[in-house]
Amino acid sequence: MRIIRVAGYEEMSSRAADVIAAQLILDPRSVLGLATGTTPVGAYRLLVEKNRRGEIDFSQVRTYNLDEYRGLSHDDSQSYHYFMADNLFKHVNIDMANTHVPDGSDPDAESACRAYDAMVEEAGYPDLQLLGIGNNGHIGFNEPAEGFPVGTHCVDLTPSTIQANSRLFDDPDDVPRQAYTMGVGTIMKSRRVLVLASGAAKADAVRAMCYGPVVPSCPASALQLHPDCIVIADEAALARCPEE
Ligand code: GLP
Repeated sequence: MRIIRVAGYEEMSSRAADVIAAQLILDPRSVLGLATGTTPVGAYRLLVEKNRRGEIDFSQVRTYNLDEYRGLSHDDSQSYHYFMADNLFKHVNIDMANTHVPDGSDPDAESACRAYDAMVEEAGYPDLQLLGIGNNGHIGFNEPAEGFPVGTHCVDLTPSTIQANSRLFDDPDDVPRQAYTMGVGTIMKSRRVLVLASGAAKADAVRAMCYGPVVPSCPASALQLHPDCIVIADEAALARCPEE
């Protein structure tokens, strides 16, 4: 794991956008694994600006998002489909047919998850997987568990994740209780992983991810075993880590 320490959210976003832009410059046909949450929003905004200035081209890029709430249709404003269109896809020259998010509107979890696994496998897995991290160490929606899930699966969200994500909903009761998420195994198959973390609320999770034991009670700790994992985190998120 390479840890890049930055001052705050703006610098984290700018470094992240540079890493993603470099990936697209080196391989305009890249497969990107993308994440939702407030953490990557700044990086997405900078990627939109780079695209508008003609510095990066999304026309041949394919994207695969980590997760989606179960039960939300694509056009639901709380869905991750909607989030991605709103924050990135509709502002850049990507072909929407090349963007993929698990189908939360499919009530058949088994078929939705198998279909998504097949798509990601056929794409050859992401060249670069962008990740945020939950306060409890979750990645995608892989919650602390007894084991590391391999493929896409349906997960029951923990009370702490429901609580953390309720800030984005009008009514906390509206937060879906389940989600479809890529497994830790699929995330580990990406050729490079880029984790972003900002703010004091992430400090325990970041310490466990980078310096704790590799255990499924902190799903992000599996990334210690990834051959090319970059963490860009700010001072507040790194506050409980040793200064190297
Ligand atoms: C959600 C997403 C994760 C994200 C996490 C943290 O649970 N499924 O992919 O990393 O939230 O979100 P935030 O970046 O808003 O702190």
